[in-house]
Amino acid sequence: MHIPSLKEAKVRSKKLVNISEYILNQNLKELGLGKKYYIRTYGCQMNEHDSENIKALLESMSFKETDEMEKADIVLLNTCAIRENAHNKVFGFLGRVKHLKDENPNLITCICGCMVQEESVALEIMNKYKWVDIVFGTHNIHELPDILNRLIKKQERQIEVYSIEGDIVEKNPYKRDSQYKAWVNIMYGCDKFCTYCIVPYTRGKQRSRKKEYILNEIKELMKDGYKEVTLLGQNVNAYGKDLYDDYDMSNLLEDTALTGIERVRFVTSHPWDFNDKMISIIKKYPNIMPYIHLPLQSGSDRILKLMGRRYTKEEYLKLFNKLKEALPYSSITTDIIVGFPGETEKDFNDTLDVVNTCKFDSAFTFIFSPREGTPASKMEDNVTKEEKEARLETLNQLVNKYSKQANMNYLNKVVPVLIEGYSDKDDNKLMGYTDTMKLVNVKGDESSIGKIVNVKITDVKTWSMDGEII
Ligand code: SAH
Ligand code: SF4
Ligand code: F3S
Repeated sequence: MHIPSLKEAKVRSKKLVNISEYILNQNLKELGLGKKYYIRTYGCQMNEHDSENIKALLESMSFKETDEMEKADIVLLNTCAIRENAHNKVFGFLGRVKHLKDENPNLITCICGCMVQEESVALEIMNKYKWVDIVFGTHNIHELPDILNRLIKKQERQIEVYSIEGDIVEKNPYKRDSQYKAWVNIMYGCDKFCTYCIVPYTRGKQRSRKKEYILNEIKELMKDGYKEVTLLGQNVNAYGKDLYDDYDMSNLLEDTALTGIERVRFVTSHPWDFNDKMISIIKKYPNIMPYIHLPLQSGSDRILKLMGRRYTKEEYLKLFNKLKEALPYSSITTDIIVGFPGETEKDFNDTLDVVNTCKFDSAFTFIFSPREGTPASKMEDNVTKEEKEARLETLNQLVNKYSKQANMNYLNKVVPVLIEGYSDKDDNKLMGYTDTMKLVNVKGDESSIGKIVNVKITDVKTWSMDGEII
């Protein structure tokens, strides 16, 4: 049994990171024969991608996926800890899982992901949710086959969550959600320690993957027909800083572009590490998509400082303008937190001011949520809930206005769209994303799926557009 410790999770050791390669224990190949699994994923792209790994591990043991939880022999919840409501959603859903477990004691129940990396959550599940069979964390996904095997053989509950990251595991199998676009981790963890954020505790220290492994993975994806890769990390612009003296994100972006894959994306960029070399590489290679997610968090220098973001409003605007100058066609989106402890009306107006200046293509907006163990959770907060909600509403209205405005620029234009499949909302329509990451719904048939086609935009809304393939 391993329980995470908040104290340990804060530590950043100088220890060298080892690399190991994943190998399935061949004795476990038939462990899940005739059995089904159901997985539910909360949180960010990182978690989505981890779930692709978990699915592949289970399928390598002969489990089959089901999207009906009631029919599953094993239920897994891959959780997120970023905000309180992420927690609440999981604890809410656990009630439904408990109900199934009561009906079928043979059901295997499993919770993994960022939430169980929190000491208090791991303890709560251990003590109050005794019917949960398996708990494992973000650092030992590759151990799932052995953990499952131990549970089944020994009939003993498995709680295995490490606070300190171990080796980087390469050659992980993935059952990818899409046949056309793929996530590729380029680094794990985060060392930025923004004062509000739990991620540095749940994902460990920043560890970049070796470029050879990344580029090989991309070449393999191309062989399998993938058109698009998204290089994934909490702070991709810092790629390589922990590993190389002379190879950084701009080099990796260039090498990725040179593989010839049709579309290269990357998330998330921290403004602090965004250098000129990166901008010129994005400009130079047409297969690097003109789309940048550049979290602002706040427009107030005072709040940015309290957040530990390491840039000022002016520096953010300078970078934003430089990007727009170099890449006028690009779309830029952002993340914003309102109601950070002590945020005044003036601070909030500074945020609105940046939004009015940048006119973002879109923005994810959040009310500050105190996370246990983070410095911001201990800061005095005299802003009322109502005030925070009102600020969020004001901000959202402004953000939506600019989203619609940005989309209006596309009306009657022809843009390239990678068609991914049928639209969730309308079975008669196909959906895909432009190079600038705008969601487009089009009429068309199966023959366009998986292709990058030219689409004339015929109607625009706030969050999507309609178009016709030409
Ligand atoms: N690594 C990314 C962010 C990952 S978390 C970056 O640095 O930009 C995604 C977003 O969740 C953040 O950008 C932030 O806006 C929001 N977020 C993180 N912690 C939060 C908290 N405690 N309360 C509210 N929003 C939070
Ligand atoms: Fe969290 Fe900041 Fe790291 Fe992003 S950069 S994951 S907000 S600590
Ligand atoms: Fe959530 Fe963990 Fe991602 S906390 S946002 S799933 S890194």
